[in-house]
Amino acid sequence: MDGKKLAGEKAAAYVENGMVVGLGTGSTVYWTIMKLGERVREGLRIQGVPTSRRTEELALELGIPLLDLAEVDEIDLTIDGADESDGDLNLIKGGGGALLREKLVASVSRRFIVVADESKWVASLGKFPLPVEVVPFGWELTRRQLGKLGCDPVLRMAGNEIYVTDNGNYIIDCHFGVIKDAKSLSETLNKWPGVVENGLFVNMAERIVLGYTDGSVEERLPE
Ligand code: 5RP
Repeated sequence: MDGKKLAGEKAAAYVENGMVVGLGTGSTVYWTIMKLGERVREGLRIQGVPTSRRTEELALELGIPLLDLAEVDEIDLTIDGADESDGDLNLIKGGGGALLREKLVASVSRRFIVVADESKWVASLGKFPLPVEVVPFGWELTRRQLGKLGCDPVLRMAGNEIYVTDNGNYIIDCHFGVIKDAKSLSETLNKWPGVVENGLFVNMAERIVLGYTDGSVEERLPE
């Protein structure tokens, strides 16, 4: 069975009438958003805050009323996917390129629930290359600085073109192998002027809903 679909649909049950809901980006939360679209057609009243243009388009197609982040001070609940989660529910995100908006939305959310299939659950973070969003100006310098942290930094491409985020920035995927201290790495990265944001989400997730190919779904809290 599709663990992503199982997890994504199950997490939609946390959404209640009247909520402002952060809508994540990716192929797992896609199923959450599809379910919410169904519930909206049945009368659920919510307002969504999308984390990417892709999610915005999907939500609009489904008739989910949307708010811009600028219009809210607080979001009741955000549901989003992840590329990796460790036992403390520290995450790597940004495989889909939406890390900056995802982190902004999650940071003003009272609750943040992660949806993923079993492949995302890891003993330690870092096998998945850490996405770092950087300003285009002088990106080669920023890449060299990232390399000094002991990773192999690779500029993200979309075919023959440089990949450009919804915010007009570039992404450098940093191959660390293992990340020992996610909090301190995140702080170090964000101190550099060329770095806009990084894909480490530390101490943000309340729970993870994990879907398994055997058809089961499990919820885990930080250890
Ligand atoms: C997008 C993300 C996604 O949540 C992450 O890449 C997981 O995606 P998927 O659910 O498609 O595996 O961070 O920027």
